[in-house]
Amino acid sequence: MKKNVLITGTSTGVGLETALLFAKNGYKVYATMRNLSKSTALKEKITEDKLDIEILELDVTKQDTITKTVEYIISKDQKIDILVNNAGAGFAKTVEQASEKEIEWVTNVNYLGVVYTTKTVLPYMRKQKAGRIITLSSVGGLVGQPFNELYCGAKFAVEGFIEGLATYVGPSFNIKFSILEPGGISTEFMKSAIGNTTVDGQFATGEYEPIFAKYLEGNQRRANEEAENTYQTPLEVAEVIAEVAADDNPPLRKRTSKWAEEFAKLKTVGDPDGKKLIEQITSTFL
Ligand SMILES: NC(=O)c1ccc[n+]([C@@H]2O[C@H](COP(=O)([O-])OP(=O)(O)OC[C@H]3O[C@@H](n4cnc5c(N)ncnc54)[C@H](OP(=O)(O)O)[C@@H]3O)[C@@H](O)[C@H]2O)c1
Repeated sequence: MKKNVLITGTSTGVGLETALLFAKNGYKVYATMRNLSKSTALKEKITEDKLDIEILELDVTKQDTITKTVEYIISKDQKIDILVNNAGAGFAKTVEQASEKEIEWVTNVNYLGVVYTTKTVLPYMRKQKAGRIITLSSVGGLVGQPFNELYCGAKFAVEGFIEGLATYVGPSFNIKFSILEPGGISTEFMKSAIGNTTVDGQFATGEYEPIFAKYLEGNQRRANEEAENTYQTPLEVAEVIAEVAADDNPPLRKRTSKWAEEFAKLKTVGDPDGKKLIEQITSTFL
């Protein structure tokens, strides 16, 4: 029987490319998305390349959709080999000017979505005594960045959540956890981050307005001058996901580009792949 993989957020970007790549590599792919009306691009590729991909609805902020999809996959295959927690959304606004609703939303999509999807899949992987959970974090999960404190806070939480599981669920039940930390990726992410953030075209007001303008200017400069070195394509990130999925001894954490490695170095130099840390903790009780 083919290995199967459940991927969240496959309507665009990294999720879409990961679904296509895993299918081309011989996996049975369950490509999930919150809004099935956004499945046209994926459907066209499935038909064109005759790929073994089934598209299912899953909104990481809605437990009933997670449960329904996971139970459906189990009823068909009696297993889930790999979960790729990919769904996420950008948000750049100072916490002072973010509404309670926005704060809850950015935390739900980027953090609690990972918690609930992982929680739903874990009992099956534990029973199988096998499984892999690959989660998209960001360099923002290691390094806090201006106007991104809410997004970075959620990604830091993801890092702590997965790291915690990797210290005891991983070695006890042969479930391999990996966290991937990309820098910039050329996807819809920036556009949707801006869409999620602005209110009447305004990003920041009052004393924050000139600071935000400088921040944007710096980002723009970086995008123009260093685009080649800074930004990855979603396919390049999908290739790192596939590489980690095929690794018998995968890293706990991995930056997905040289730029990301350099950017996060101050935080990662002591234990770049996180394996020393897991060894140190597990050696105290396992
Ligand atoms: N792009 C970057 O620069 C960058 C950098 C570092 C890390 N990352 C991380 O990489 C991952 C993939 O991002 P991307 O660059 O591919 O961005 P993207 O093109 O915007 O894709 C994000 C995906 O997540 C989905 N999504 C959003 N909310 C969801 C929900 N509640 N339930 C299920 N799916 C939901 C989106 O669906 P809709 O189409 O319905 O919105 C979309 O399919 C994210 O975790 C992101 O945080 C991105």
